[in-house]
Amino acid sequence: MSYLSRILATWYDAHARPLPWRSSRDPYNILVSEIMLQQTRVAAVIPFYAAFLNKFPTVHILAAAPEPVLLAAWSGLGYYSRARNLQKAAKIMAAAGAFPTSYDQIRQLPGVGDYTAAAVGSIAFGLAHAAVDGNVIRVTSRISAEKGDIGSAVVRRRLIAVADALLDRKNPGRHNQAMMELGATICLPRDPKCPECPVEKYCQARGAGIERELPLKQKKTLMFRVDRRLLLVKKEGKILLWQRPADSRKMAGFWELPEAEMLPGAVKGKCLGTFNHSITNHIYRFELVSASVEKIPVGFKLMNGNDLARQPMSTTTRKALQKLTVETL
Ligand code: ADE
Repeated sequence: MSYLSRILATWYDAHARPLPWRSSRDPYNILVSEIMLQQTRVAAVIPFYAAFLNKFPTVHILAAAPEPVLLAAWSGLGYYSRARNLQKAAKIMAAAGAFPTSYDQIRQLPGVGDYTAAAVGSIAFGLAHAAVDGNVIRVTSRISAEKGDIGSAVVRRRLIAVADALLDRKNPGRHNQAMMELGATICLPRDPKCPECPVEKYCQARGAGIERELPLKQKKTLMFRVDRRLLLVKKEGKILLWQRPADSRKMAGFWELPEAEMLPGAVKGKCLGTFNHSITNHIYRFELVSASVEKIPVGFKLMNGNDLARQPMSTTTRKALQKLTVETL
């Protein structure tokens, strides 16, 4: 057991909040609490936990409950698939006649992921698995001064390895709860209370003065959707295209299908298909519409397949022509 984990355990024994599920080692009670604590704050779970167990005190009673009664007891907690999965798990356990006792068996219950299996396994059975949720990712990223993006799988794997290395294998249930408690009460996302932290001295982020910058989470780039309409004008077996001017900022001299705005006099027909094209943070959705024109405007040219093959074309034009070849020509 690392020095850090020993100090954390001593702190937890003295400071743990007396949460209702912490007085139980009963695996069913622990499972109910951990499922409720998925996506829901401790304060919101407290009033539901005891009431739920009063109504469904055993796996068998929960397994036999009519769905409306189950959902009524869950109502207010949200994410109702959790309640349905919990009942499915109860039915499996009732049929098996016992609560599963290995990590892999617990992990296979409906609604139970890595985190919940580790939490239930360690608290109820002392199984040595680190429970790694968002709080623990934050705590471990600060302890190890992890500067990578926690949205990346590689970084998450590194932090799971840190959590594993810290795990107190003799008392993993207490350790996992101590890590959660540290994340929930001290190692807060915006305003960590470092002077009150029992492991401040061992925290590499604190040592470097970067605790508020971690964990790093890269923002998802906002994508803008833009609708555009391309016209397919066919004459004498040829297709009408226009050429970008030689001084164009982008793709000078490239040939493209005209957009609706470029041929205001065109008579539009039916939609021939759609396709998407993404450029940096824009998703363009192109609609291809058949059209006809009286005469060929300046800068436009009718081209056949051979002409097209010898001319520079943008990717969107290529995509459009391919779509037409496949679907309509
Ligand atoms: N969040 C998830 N599981 C928890 C637990 N057992 N105690 C406190 N917070 C939690």
